[in-house]
Amino acid sequence: MITVIGLDGGPLPRRAAAALSAAVCVAGAARHLEAAAGHIADGAERVPIGDLGAALDAVVAAGGPAAVLASGDPGFFGVLRSLRTRGADPAVVPAATSVATAFARIGLPWDDAVVVSAHGRSDSGRGVRRALAAALAHPKAAVLTAPGRAGPDAFLPELLRAGRRVHVAQRLGTDDEDVVTLAPGQEVPQRTWADPNVVLAVDPDRALAPAMAWMPGHQGAPPDWALPAESFEHRASLITKPEVRALALARLAPRPGTVVWDVGAGSGSVAVECARFGARAVAFERAPDDCERIRANARAHGVAVEVHQGEAAANLDAAAARLAPDAAFIGGGDDAVASAVLARRPERVVVALASLDRVRPLHDMLAAAGYAPDGTQMQASRLSGLPNGSLRLAAANPVTLLWGTRTPSA
Ligand SMILES: C[S@@+](CC[C@H](N)C(=O)[O-])C[C@H]1O[C@@H](n2cnc3c(N)ncnc32)[C@H](O)[C@@H]1O
Repeated sequence: MITVIGLDGGPLPRRAAAALSAAVCVAGAARHLEAAAGHIADGAERVPIGDLGAALDAVVAAGGPAAVLASGDPGFFGVLRSLRTRGADPAVVPAATSVATAFARIGLPWDDAVVVSAHGRSDSGRGVRRALAAALAHPKAAVLTAPGRAGPDAFLPELLRAGRRVHVAQRLGTDDEDVVTLAPGQEVPQRTWADPNVVLAVDPDRALAPAMAWMPGHQGAPPDWALPAESFEHRASLITKPEVRALALARLAPRPGTVVWDVGAGSGSVAVECARFGARAVAFERAPDDCERIRANARAHGVAVEVHQGEAAANLDAAAARLAPDAAFIGGGDDAVASAVLARRPERVVVALASLDRVRPLHDMLAAAGYAPDGTQMQASRLSGLPNGSLRLAAANPVTLLWGTRTPSA
């Protein structure tokens, strides 16, 4: 029998203490073996978890009762999954997860929080990027960090810049527990953070969702999308029409953990809709009054959109250096702008074109950059009423939508 025991700094439950003292083999991180030393039988084999796989193999192969010590709730981003995949059928004695403890320390409910883990895939930076994107798109987030490149410093600059109040909860449940609170917009302090730690990020204006959520985190696809033009403030004609936006959204695939750029954003309707799907939305627009309108549209829809004012091509590099895009919608700008977007290598690109002259060059540009180009012309005619009460079709201007998905090797 294997017992997995969660530790949170509190006293060990009786079941856990009994399982530990009976175990002939106990695996755990060095700090956990030390914390539970008084309960482990003298002759028991102690297996420090450096290489998790090897340690769990040793536990599974132990010739008697064994125990695994883990942090918090072993069933929540913990060792339980790895043990189960080895065919073990362990008993579990959980403790409070570090996320619950961290929110308890700042006195906030967390049933409306999105919880993301930055563990894994850190070689490519993908783990950090998607965790950061999801945290930025949600008013309340907890990030399970990992030592090194996925530590608090990978998250703090963007979270603080986005107006979040950030708490770094270090070594919870130990004698040197420390929760450091950073104010929105403040500089990131030059210091080292003690491991392990959890980063909480809270939008101070939305620390309490208006009502209790029924499901933690992002609530899934919005109740309606491809919203009518009237749902957005816009300058006449400078809005992607709902029919075109619907297909663009389908091809951009906005969702939690992704970053979507809206380049030449106009009203920002695409950015706002992507944010409603849970993506981190970033809009680029030249005119200051359009930028104001994008911000107003984001506010009206209760979502976060980062707005960059100025010539798009000049702003893309700096934005990409902070958080590279997964998908980009190009609703405005010339071929130089499109080429600058492609240079940032988003996986998906969608371009809306009114001018036929640009279709061929952009199609070829997508192909040359390693994307599989595709496209369609969209000509919608909406139902409209006539004064006599009969229906007519009101034609909207045709638009060519081009898109491309980057082939994996490109
Ligand atoms: C693999 S996850 C395990 C999560 C664990 N099952 C739980 O319920 O807290 C490891 C991460 O949990 C967080 N963590 C675990 N113990 C912690 C503690 N005592 N204080 C702060 N964060 C902790 C850190 O983000 C750490 O990198």
